[in-house]
Amino acid sequence: MIGPIDPAKFETLVEISALINSNYGNATSLLTQILESATKLTEGEASSLVLRDPETDILRFEIALGPKGSEVKNFTLKSGEGIAGWVALHGQSLIVNDVEADARHFDNIGKSIGFPAHSILAVPMRVRDVTVGVIEIINKKNQKYFTQNDLQWLEIFAVQAAIAVENARYLEKARDEIHYLRDQVQAGRGWHSLIAESPAIKEKLELIDRVARTDSSVLILGESGVGKELFAEQIHLKSERRDGAFVRVNCAALPEGLLESELFGHVKGAFTDAVQSRKGRFELADGGTIFLDEIGDFPLKLQAKLLRVLQQRSFERVGSSDPITVNVRIVAATNRNIESLVEKGEFRSDLYYRLNVLPILVPPLRQRKEDIAALAEFFLKRFSREMNKRFDGFADAAMELMLSYSWPGNVRELENAVERAVVIAKGSRIGPQDLLLGSMTGHTDEYGGKSLKDALVTFKRHFIRKALEENRWNQTETSKVLDIQRTYLSRLVKELSIANPKE
Ligand SMILES: Nc1ncnc2c1ncn2[C@@H]1O[C@H](COP(=O)(O)OP(=O)(O)OP(=O)(O)O)[C@@H](O)[C@H]1O
Ligand SMILES: [Mg+2]
Repeated sequence: MIGPIDPAKFETLVEISALINSNYGNATSLLTQILESATKLTEGEASSLVLRDPETDILRFEIALGPKGSEVKNFTLKSGEGIAGWVALHGQSLIVNDVEADARHFDNIGKSIGFPAHSILAVPMRVRDVTVGVIEIINKKNQKYFTQNDLQWLEIFAVQAAIAVENARYLEKARDEIHYLRDQVQAGRGWHSLIAESPAIKEKLELIDRVARTDSSVLILGESGVGKELFAEQIHLKSERRDGAFVRVNCAALPEGLLESELFGHVKGAFTDAVQSRKGRFELADGGTIFLDEIGDFPLKLQAKLLRVLQQRSFERVGSSDPITVNVRIVAATNRNIESLVEKGEFRSDLYYRLNVLPILVPPLRQRKEDIAALAEFFLKRFSREMNKRFDGFADAAMELMLSYSWPGNVRELENAVERAVVIAKGSRIGPQDLLLGSMTGHTDEYGGKSLKDALVTFKRHFIRKALEENRWNQTETSKVLDIQRTYLSRLVKELSIANPKE
């Protein structure tokens, strides 16, 4: 196919192949070398390598060599525009030795940079059957014409360049993935084991089994620390999407502008720091599940865009008007009262109704005391292993204390209490004093912290609990005995986190 084998040309090709296999890091320098060699071998005065953006179909001058190269790089071509555009659109090579006479020629660029083209050699860069770009050589030196032989050589260079581009894109994708995985690992977030002993939680897990099989959006509600994130994980793990990504987004952690580009991505140049276009979390979650945590804090201004994703699974990257469609399951969670946010106008009601198709309420720990012992043992095992300590479980008094405590911070508070206990405990079992729950009895430093305020709080908690116990937890009767208003007692019970152990 190629004319007489020129040893110098062959040598160049071998060199480029070697470069491609050793230079994954810097695609631009690799492509520049390929283009330089191709220009030299075809005796061109100038050349460019244009890449087609697969999303917008626009051709961008990635590399431009020759006297006006740096100016050429400011231009873009639409699909089909100019000779390069024609080659990209048709996937066919072209030799045009009388450019002015060719209707396909787009002379804007040559005119505005003052470097007119007389002859052009252009070949497509293909990855499998897709044209990813075009290599163009401009003006054969010494007024000569480009030949069929030049074209065949250039096609070989184009194959090499396409491989380099594909490698670079692959690498970029891998980088994105590494970035994402690192996030997950740094946050200490693999899958969590979910302990479920109480009928209340087992029932929720059965509900999740059924919900997981559908694709509908799920809203997980519940107090802080009850395990909403673990339920979100279960929905993903039990669904058909379990092999896809599970992408977590904390909607309260980022300011509005950053959250928008984090979720939906952006195109190059969309804002000052957008030096490269970037996929958003919705695209990363394609085929999987996105977990929108703290949805109650979702900025009002972005809610319309989110609503559209819920309705149509489509959105635009920041700075672009091309819709992107994804196949994503949406799971959201919040500990806030969304209904009251809707009333205050801070949350769109249409978005709320869309999200609330399948609400799952995770009950607080004080309403499922059957989980406490199992959770405490689970955390004890984990922290003992991490801290290289050994314990023979909890002393009975410690277990009793945990069972009677109201756990306003729910499972997270229990987890923290056990962690602290593992650090400070001296004996072979975890004692009640190790838990630092501030309501233990029979110890010299029974009044918790050092301040008078702390001591008074502890005293009040004891005193009221004792009165409640003596009156079978009947608040009306207890308030009479204590000579206070029933509403005041009820407020104290809440504030001091006093709970009836039998509830
Ligand atoms: N059933 C459970 N089994 C084991 N660990 C649990 C369970 N429930 C919660 N946890 C642990 O408790 C902690 C809090 O859980 P999680 O982060 O899911 O709470 P949350 O409901 O999302 O709270 P917040 O509203 O504050 O974000 C986590 O460390 C989690 O691993
Ligand atoms: Mg959470």
